[in-house]
Amino acid sequence: MAFFSNYYMDVLDCIKSRRSIRKFENQLIPQEIIEEILECGRWAPSGVNFQPWKVFVVSDPNVKEKLAKCTKHSSLILNAPHTFAIFLDQTKQYHYTKHVQSIGAFFQTLLLALHAKGLGGVWLGEIYNQKDQVSDVFGINDPQLEFMGAIAFGKPAEQGKSSRKKVSEFVVWS
Ligand SMILES: Cc1cc2nc3c(=O)[nH]c(=O)nc-3n(C[C@H](O)[C@H](O)[C@H](O)COP(=O)(O)O)c2cc1C
Repeated sequence: MAFFSNYYMDVLDCIKSRRSIRKFENQLIPQEIIEEILECGRWAPSGVNFQPWKVFVVSDPNVKEKLAKCTKHSSLILNAPHTFAIFLDQTKQYHYTKHVQSIGAFFQTLLLALHAKGLGGVWLGEIYNQKDQVSDVFGINDPQLEFMGAIAFGKPAEQGKSSRKKVSEFVVWS
């Protein structure tokens, strides 16, 4: 597909066709492509435009191994060439829930950008249960930086499959 190319898919197709990818080719992604993904993340919406995110891009096998030990889903991190470890930076006081909502928008923007570039990723939330252990991996002891989750990503080696409720099951027109 679009991997490494300048092809960009229609945004509605991108939203609907994005699936979590849990199998990856053993191939590193060039830094400029990762930077392009992060450039998209930069434009995610956030409460009062605080942009409360901080991201570690993990590619070093030793760091990957340490990070993988923090989750039951270790194989996803070990088999992906890269992982974004995403922290909430609360240096600017605002509203905790709205900061967390902003982080959710950041995650989704990164996932969509990956998909638009022909890459794939999976949001890792289980690892949040071990957030203090993750902070230790990155040598973080600042209480204002809270680990929120990770995205393992790379070139897809599967299509991904999922399903959804019908719109009528969750919408109320009033
Ligand atoms: C907050 C959150 C946490 C998630 N945590 C995990 C996880 O720990 N492991 C995993 O394999 N997938 C995880 N996922 C991915 C979901 O399983 C996936 O998005 C959902 O099943 C829908 O599938 P799709 O993304 O392919 O459409 C998480 C997704 C979200 C939004």
